[in-house]
Amino acid sequence: MSKRILLTGGAGFIGSHTYVSLVEGGYEAVILDDFSNSSPGVLDRLRVITGRAVPCIRGSIQDRALVCRVLRDENISAVVQFAAFKAVGESVAQPLRYYDNNVGGMIGLLQSMNDAGCRNLIFSSSATVYGEPESVPIAESARRSINSPYGHTKLIIEDMLGALHQSDPRWAIGTLRYFNPVGAHPSGLIGEHPRDIPNNLMPYVTQVALGQREYLSIFGADYDTPDGTGVRDYIHIQDLANGHLFALKAILEKAASFVVNLGTGVGYSVLDLVRNFEAANDVAVPYRIVARRPGDIASCFADPRLANTLLGWQAKLGLRDMCTDAWRWQQHNPRGYDAT
Ligand code: UFG
Repeated sequence: MSKRILLTGGAGFIGSHTYVSLVEGGYEAVILDDFSNSSPGVLDRLRVITGRAVPCIRGSIQDRALVCRVLRDENISAVVQFAAFKAVGESVAQPLRYYDNNVGGMIGLLQSMNDAGCRNLIFSSSATVYGEPESVPIAESARRSINSPYGHTKLIIEDMLGALHQSDPRWAIGTLRYFNPVGAHPSGLIGEHPRDIPNNLMPYVTQVALGQREYLSIFGADYDTPDGTGVRDYIHIQDLANGHLFALKAILEKAASFVVNLGTGVGYSVLDLVRNFEAANDVAVPYRIVARRPGDIASCFADPRLANTLLGWQAKLGLRDMCTDAWRWQQHNPRGYDAT
């Protein structure tokens, strides 16, 4: 019988793509989501893509009784935890909300897992834990630092998981440090749909290309990078989702615990991304160079070798796929899941 995996926050952008990867990889996946930053509309799309019913429970990871019940009743072998807030700027304005939801939510989830005897976990961390890196590419051994309350929540949780594993080796924990996930499932049925004005580059670019926004503001062209704009490691969401499948196999089949980067190892600037998007999709993305965004860094890209060595995973898709898939999703779903 295939193993059952709980995806907390599984209705979001990364969770929904991972759901598809896990089902295609032979697991039975169950979603737990409170839909605070996602739409139930994604469930029907997941049903179409996978060709089967999508088990989903509406609720919060803070609800310990519910989580315990789900873990036991559904006979869950591992949890992939996506349920967290992720807007850097918002975390600066509302730090307690972030510590409560991200750190508090995680503590509740871990206690529920311990109570239910389920001690296999994949945790969504972020390259944000590297803060302003001393050098690039960034290996997992690089010094970590804090750039925002959001980043601090990821750092605290990483440390908490380390202590937990040390206290009880029955825990198998895979921590995945995501770089910049973009793109969408090639079907165009699922993708990223920010509720408000997008914070991140790719959703902003697709909305400008569609005419929903007038122009892209490029936050600074005076960084110490080849063209002056910020350099990031954009990774196709399909590759990122697949990384979870490899990580899950490692914790379930080898009882491994690890912390790995999920990135491509290639850095592209904002202008690279805009030009590639225009060329790949034959569409214009008007832009203006404006002031730097507070807290941004010049350059951030991964040394992705450890994930390959430990998990046998590596990213396969390039910037062109990221651009065409993001555009297909945006064109087919100009208002996301709720009103197409
Ligand atoms: N950018 C623009 N204009 C925009 C949006 C972004 O020029 O409208 C630029 C940024 O200045 C940066 C690049 O595009 O140079 C990428 O910015 P994103 O906001 O897409 O991504 P970040 O690298 O700033 O942040 C992302 C995640 C964070 C995570 C961080 C870790 O959003 O959650 O990566 O590396 F913490």
